[in-house]
Amino acid sequence: MKLLHGGDYFPEQWLTRPETIEEDFKYFKEAKINTVTVGMFAWSILEPEENHFDFTWLDQVFDKAEENGMKVILGTPSGARPNWLASKYPDVLRVNERLEKNRFGGRHNHCFTSVNYRERVRIVNEKLAERYGHRESLLMWHLSNEYSGECHCDQCQSAFRLWMQNKYGTLEAVNQAYWNTFWSHTYSDWSHVHSPNHLGEMAVHALNLDWRRFVTDQTIDFYLHERAAINKYSTDIPVTTNFMADTEHLIPFQALDYSKFGKIVDIVTWDCYPAWHNDWETEADLALKVGFINDLYRGLKEMPFLIMESSPSFVNWHDINRPKRPGMHKLASTQLLAHGSDSVLYFQMRASKGSSEKFHGSVIGHVPPERNRVYQEVASLGERMSQLDGLVGSMKQSDVAIYYDWENDWAIKDIQGFSKTNMNYHHTLHDHYRPFWRQDVNVDVITKNNDFDGYKLLVMPMMYLHSRDLLAKVQAYVEAGGTVVYTYMSGMANETDLVYDGGTIAGLEDMLGIVISETDVYYPSQRNQVKFQDASYEVHDYATVFETTSAETLAIYGADFYQGQAAVSVNHYGKGQAYFMGARTGDDFLSKFYGELLDQLTIVGNSIAKSSDSVSVQTREDSEGTRYYFVMNFSDQVQTAEVPQGLIDVSTGLPVEATLTLQGFEAMVLTSK
Ligand code: GLA
Ligand code: ZN
Repeated sequence: MKLLHGGDYFPEQWLTRPETIEEDFKYFKEAKINTVTVGMFAWSILEPEENHFDFTWLDQVFDKAEENGMKVILGTPSGARPNWLASKYPDVLRVNERLEKNRFGGRHNHCFTSVNYRERVRIVNEKLAERYGHRESLLMWHLSNEYSGECHCDQCQSAFRLWMQNKYGTLEAVNQAYWNTFWSHTYSDWSHVHSPNHLGEMAVHALNLDWRRFVTDQTIDFYLHERAAINKYSTDIPVTTNFMADTEHLIPFQALDYSKFGKIVDIVTWDCYPAWHNDWETEADLALKVGFINDLYRGLKEMPFLIMESSPSFVNWHDINRPKRPGMHKLASTQLLAHGSDSVLYFQMRASKGSSEKFHGSVIGHVPPERNRVYQEVASLGERMSQLDGLVGSMKQSDVAIYYDWENDWAIKDIQGFSKTNMNYHHTLHDHYRPFWRQDVNVDVITKNNDFDGYKLLVMPMMYLHSRDLLAKVQAYVEAGGTVVYTYMSGMANETDLVYDGGTIAGLEDMLGIVISETDVYYPSQRNQVKFQDASYEVHDYATVFETTSAETLAIYGADFYQGQAAVSVNHYGKGQAYFMGARTGDDFLSKFYGELLDQLTIVGNSIAKSSDSVSVQTREDSEGTRYYFVMNFSDQVQTAEVPQGLIDVSTGLPVEATLTLQGFEAMVLTSK
């Protein structure tokens, strides 16, 4: 098996210039490109008229790939539809939340419920599977593209009502679960159920949550519908779709619950587009966010994932689309491998000449490869990747898990109360990840899919929406000897966002050995302190006021009406321990706190010492115990890092000194064998 290097390729845009396609394959070979992903947006070429298919060009792409010993990831075209299809079957187009009907245009502009859309997709997918399912070069099916968005048409409203009936059975149960007597929002007929929208209902938090759950389920259902069509002729090839992250902070994609979707795909693949070299954070700060999101997506299936898209240099949809500086491409791509990817695939292999993505980074750009720095950097990465076949399938071994939950995220966004503008769930997750990152400790970011066994430490920041099932799982983990850390804003609401009797889910306070009385919040400029050992650390945004019952107090508040009361505590529970961090603090306290916990739990990092926190050392290990060390310098200055003795530099095959010197933005890969 090889690491995959290649990506999205659109030869259908160049059919009038066959010499360009010829040339592309020559350049692919030179840059050690071994995979192309094709077909995603080619519906109007594949089926120019209803039921008239033309596969000539795609046959040739397969031929070319096979001649060159390359693999093909074949996309289904449902991410964008032909004009004829939308004109003939208007219900395929979306209706927005204001109930306005979309016109033809853009992409992803389709209703996942539409009977006609599903039928047209079935037909074209079956044709593709029948024709290409047995091609020797076919590596994987790539269904649609970045499934996302929602539709509020009548077919979707009916599907939503049905979904709700299946979940709750009776309207009375819905009214109870939603607390619908509030503002007289009681449903007395199923036809009253309607998707949340800004012209009408947005205040019923349980409805908002259920709508998002429905959108996730409906999207998965559409995916399964596409897959069934493929499976009619092709059953032995893995099937996937490409996931995303949101915003320049690379937070988990918000519109779908990937912890559910991740279970369905055969392999998790995703599209990673960090804004390298921006002017609001250092490359090292951004690298932390890249690390976090990759650690999350790896955990969705607890196996290596694929980067399905990344840019060889810049994108076209950030506000400022800055090229990667020399060396950054190799470094950034090495980081993706370091966190568990078995590929570096790109959007796009050749830049289109027209339309909205013509200035997006590409392997072959408008400036010819011979004098194109981006192409040269891609080729240099290709060289590195060709030396790393042994990496394929290897995993990260982590003692630390940080828990993330999509539904909790959605619920936190809806909270009307506390410090609304400073909820900052994602920042908080990054803040709790940082101390481990800095000490080069591998972390798994896990979700409700994952088991907790095997972790020495489980960190659960801001688990506001907290099911009883989750609590039982945490209790079992701690009883058996695990260590858990809970924070402020935890365990307050059930799955339909109803507040638990007493303010906190029954059993949590008992495990933590505390009783919570209130949650204090601060305006942005207000501060408190926690006193921990001999030092004082600043508190902002949140402070839980609580008393200990069986817990030991580790830190106390420095001021306010709860001055001297516990701010951080630990309780022995079963064979394990349960920490509670009542206040939001800065990195100084978090580093100190987690630093001590790491020592106590004998969790060791991957490096011994380094000249700067901008160096990150991550490891992957294969089933025979061979360990790969990725030593990455996210600063433009020379840095050093000490790693265990006896490692070999993969690029030279020679042993390295224990103290490594890295040039600015340099990344090295070492192995223990
Ligand atoms: C997404 C899409 C691609 C392309 C890139 C541009 O990831 O899947 O088709 O539009 O963005 O960055
Ligand atoms: Zn619809």
